[in-house]
Amino acid sequence: MFHHQQRARELAQLTPPDFIFGTATSSWQIEGSSKTRASSIWDDFSLAGGIKDGSSADPACDHINRFETDLDLLSWLNVDAYRFSVSWPRVMPSGDLVSTAGLDFYDRLIDGLLARNIKPALTIYHWDLPSELEAKGGWTWSGISDQFARYSEVLATKFADRVEMWATLNEPWVSAFLGYATNIHAPGRNNPADGFVASYNLMLAHGKSLEALRSNNVRNAGTVLNLTTIISDDDLAVARSHIDLLQNRFWLDLLAGRGLSDELIENTKSILDWNFVRHDELKLISKPIDWLGINYYTPTRLSRVSGSVAVGQDLALYPGTPKQVAFNPLPPTTQMGWEIHAPSLLTTLQQTAARLPGVPLYITENGGAFPDELIDGHITDYDRVDYFYDHICAALNAIEQGIDLRGYFAWSLLDNVEWAEGISKRFGIVYVDFETQQRIPKLSAQFLREINLIRKSNL
Ligand code: FCB
Repeated sequence: MFHHQQRARELAQLTPPDFIFGTATSSWQIEGSSKTRASSIWDDFSLAGGIKDGSSADPACDHINRFETDLDLLSWLNVDAYRFSVSWPRVMPSGDLVSTAGLDFYDRLIDGLLARNIKPALTIYHWDLPSELEAKGGWTWSGISDQFARYSEVLATKFADRVEMWATLNEPWVSAFLGYATNIHAPGRNNPADGFVASYNLMLAHGKSLEALRSNNVRNAGTVLNLTTIISDDDLAVARSHIDLLQNRFWLDLLAGRGLSDELIENTKSILDWNFVRHDELKLISKPIDWLGINYYTPTRLSRVSGSVAVGQDLALYPGTPKQVAFNPLPPTTQMGWEIHAPSLLTTLQQTAARLPGVPLYITENGGAFPDELIDGHITDYDRVDYFYDHICAALNAIEQGIDLRGYFAWSLLDNVEWAEGISKRFGIVYVDFETQQRIPKLSAQFLREINLIRKSNL
């Protein structure tokens, strides 16, 4: 037996029987066929040169035309669930207009999953805001949350009976701070106050979307945050606390009904006042969710002097942070510069369970970009297998400690367009040749498949 098979056996035996294993993708990163939908902020950002290697939405993984092949890959992987996102500009190209062709695509995708006995896990918003809405002010526009609720309503009306898990948003911290407080991501606003206003509007949109989902009787409605553990020596406690506040606590405080903390208002007082926040909105945002998804990749390690560069580790992303602090990811790191440190997944789960008690948790994304080499038609990505093994161990450890963790989704099913990094950073468990669109499962895909096969044969 190969080493990866032994490890798969070990993990399969430790996994609770009803635990969900899946993989994840997002619409803009894989779909292609941008001409068959309206434009999004990521198309504009790519046109404006915001993507390092010049990639655009096309062809990406040409998933719109090849989704049956991708569904077959999911079948082969024997996953329990598949997390995907819906492209807002594909479904609602303008105002309240609904595109039947756009909805039909997701209809076929969802039916294809169900036919293969795979649970559909749908994310309503994974960053591809229609350009038309950005022109109105995007996530800083006061009307955006109502528009998002209408879009959510369209999806809920159509898919409530068939989708197993619903997420309103993917990583609102990234939308707000990479897209609005800085210009690392689309729409590239670069204004700290806008970052905070966008954060609040995103959460308000979550609240209104949840209401729309509930009134259409969807099953399992939740949301997805990118949470992590902030590590530093004690002399950096003030900076650590502020970064923890913006990265983790702000979102969990709102969901848990604790509202805006005094620390937030104090630390951001030179950037904005929060007078626009309304009590009834805070109540709406804190309506109970059925589950919370955590996207976890790396800890955030702080020190007085900066270490190596890591994508998304930048003080400008945490407006209000005391200046004498820097990011210092330690080796080993992935191609994103992200420190590989599985114990921080466990502490992140512990911390989140304490901050949002009583809510079942899922790891909705976890994975790494590594320098994959195609040799004789194979990719033996041992580094990625190690990454998954260590992180799944940490996840199972959390369950042993009594944390209500229900599932794990590997990021990503396919190599895809990694946002501003383009196609140069490969996160897939399946290799994609972007010229020919050939898909080749990597060793990591075989590893995850093996876990699923063994688990299913044990049931
Ligand atoms: C997360 C995103 C996902 C992917 C991974 C690497 O922040 O949700 O789309 O880009 O990072």
